[in-house]
Amino acid sequence: MPPAASGKSLLIIGASRGLGYAMVEEFLQRGWGVGGTVRGNARTKLHELADRSAGRVEIETVDINAPDQVAALRARLAGRTFDVLFVNAGVTNNQQETIAEVATEEFVRVMVTNALSPMRVVEALQDLVPRSGTIGVMSSGQGSVANNTRGMREVYRGSQAALNTFMRSFAARHWDDPRAMVLMAPGWVRTDMGGADAPLRIEDSIPILVDTLLAVQGKAGLQYLDYLGRTVAW
Ligand SMILES: NC(=O)c1ccc[n+]([C@@H]2O[C@H](COP(=O)([O-])OP(=O)(O)OC[C@H]3O[C@@H](n4cnc5c(N)ncnc54)[C@H](OP(=O)(O)O)[C@@H]3O)[C@@H](O)[C@H]2O)c1
Repeated sequence: MPPAASGKSLLIIGASRGLGYAMVEEFLQRGWGVGGTVRGNARTKLHELADRSAGRVEIETVDINAPDQVAALRARLAGRTFDVLFVNAGVTNNQQETIAEVATEEFVRVMVTNALSPMRVVEALQDLVPRSGTIGVMSSGQGSVANNTRGMREVYRGSQAALNTFMRSFAARHWDDPRAMVLMAPGWVRTDMGGADAPLRIEDSIPILVDTLLAVQGKAGLQYLDYLGRTVAW
């Protein structure tokens, strides 16, 4: 990856489409160099963007649910540093399905993809982020235990609350780490996951989310913030 205009670099995990792809576009506009990951060998929107980026977008491949692929990615990135590591990849399931109804395999798929695998990525790649850098993970407002007064999306909520707790444990274990850490709630956004009824367009959320992500740089410790920079109740 050639030096970016800003001299800054982002590594984003899960950038083939949706919010992750939009974050790559936004960081590019701000002069950053970006490493973005896709799954598998199929050509994606990110490949089209990389072709137009004069070498400022570098594509890597990882399925976060495959520990051997995470380890291989870490090995390929040996010796590199990124000012921001951001783990965006995630999935959802049938929102109507309650914890009473969900099949065990479906529960495992959502919990592993949304809670265990992002943490495995954080654990494996965190040493690529310098002391001045930021480790971010895409969470959701649905991960708030305190704000869960209406239920719905039970399995997804549980996975995001678990992710938040694991990230808090990571931060507690790294209590003297000078790096900024952040769990981001992007709002309900129209993507493949968010669906057509979501009130926010990608362009309503992502530029402001990126402002928020950049504003935590240099602030040690973990925050749980919405895209507008407001603290979300745990
Ligand atoms: N949209 C919303 O309203 C909303 C609200 C709150 C939180 N979020 C969170 O924001 C993140 C992005 O959501 P989105 O709306 O952009 O969803 P999306 O359009 O469905 O995109 C999901 C992204 O995650 C990747 N991904 C899924 N499983 C993966 C795996 N095992 N390994 C690697 N990559 C994987 C997908 O890659 P492929 O293309 O290969 O499938 C895709 O790039 C998710 O973590 C989601 O929970 C979204």
